[in-house]
Amino acid sequence: MFAAASGGIPLDKYHTFGLAVRTQALILPAREDEVPEAAQKAAYILGEGSNILPLGDLPPVLSTRYLRGYAVLEATSDLVRVEVAAGENWDGWVRFCITQGWYGLENLAAIPGSVGAAVVQNIGAYGVEVAPWVESIYGWNKRLQAWQRLPAEACSLGYRSSVFQMPAWQDQFVITRVVLRLKRRYEPVLTYPDVVRRKHPRLLYDPLYLYETIRAIRAEKLPAEGSAGSFFKNPILKEPELADLQKKAPDIPFHPLPDGRYKVPAAWLIDKAGLKGYRLGGAQVHPRQPLVLVNLGNATPQDLWALAQHVQKTVAERWGIHLEPEVRVLAPVPTLEP
Ligand code: EPU
Repeated sequence: MFAAASGGIPLDKYHTFGLAVRTQALILPAREDEVPEAAQKAAYILGEGSNILPLGDLPPVLSTRYLRGYAVLEATSDLVRVEVAAGENWDGWVRFCITQGWYGLENLAAIPGSVGAAVVQNIGAYGVEVAPWVESIYGWNKRLQAWQRLPAEACSLGYRSSVFQMPAWQDQFVITRVVLRLKRRYEPVLTYPDVVRRKHPRLLYDPLYLYETIRAIRAEKLPAEGSAGSFFKNPILKEPELADLQKKAPDIPFHPLPDGRYKVPAAWLIDKAGLKGYRLGGAQVHPRQPLVLVNLGNATPQDLWALAQHVQKTVAERWGIHLEPEVRVLAPVPTLEP
């Protein structure tokens, strides 16, 4: 469960940017009862590392990726309540649910990362978020030194956000299981422009076909490796802020939210600021989806960080909009001894 070596353990395979950074110790509990002791030793808690940018070598890291398994708690003709371990791979889980006839998660196909991480950042894609499917979250609270079950309503699940990102909880609560409430009836969400464009009658009755369609849409736009998905969140603006932006950018697409605010695509702001494909050292603004920053193979953490700051600065100067990172940036320890 615990690996440490002088000079550190390579972390390139434990995060999706694939950077040549190390950690002082890599802690990989394979059973839930190992978590309390493991958590004590860890500075950072990760799943598959698909939403982090380590800025250098890291202090001890715990990954929950080997906590596996699931249990059906209740099954009726309408719904299934199923508890799934945090370390299950998200995409594998989505596909498994479909094969079992448990529906709701289809549009979240092919999102990198683990089940635990899915709730930490309330993943969303193609008109669906994970939040409405979550009933409760179970895990080890380091501060209280106790296991806790939190109802979803207590977890402040919002747009790419949750209580688990707040200082009192971040790296203090190790999610080990999630209870999901899924439907037995397939009711596809086919509203997102990319999906609408692929209108095919089979989407209406074949959930696995929808799953494969979403995979194909993602594969067209998103790089297979060397990124952490969207690097920034889509900005959410109040009406006067949108009106201001429209003066500079009359064509900006916008999406009204139920609370009266508007979501605008960061990809558009970056694209129209001329940054698509922009390179800095070994890092690049992805040419097909400019919200994604990529490690071209030999990027340093500093290349990626400098690129992120360049994008933020350029967008702020051009449009007066601050882009907030969606990726979690991890502070390093001072250089490890070789
Ligand atoms: N756009 C451009 N130029 C481009 C690409 C996009 O102007 O080169 C504009 C277009 O107006 C397009 C809009 O940006 O309609 C939105 O683009 P897209 O549909 O690709 O989605 P996104 O808003 O950039 C979000 C999520 C993704 C998710 C997709 C699909 C965030 C931060 N990102 O991206 O999630 O897969 O929608 O639903 O909300 C992630 O969080 O890591 C992630 C990949």
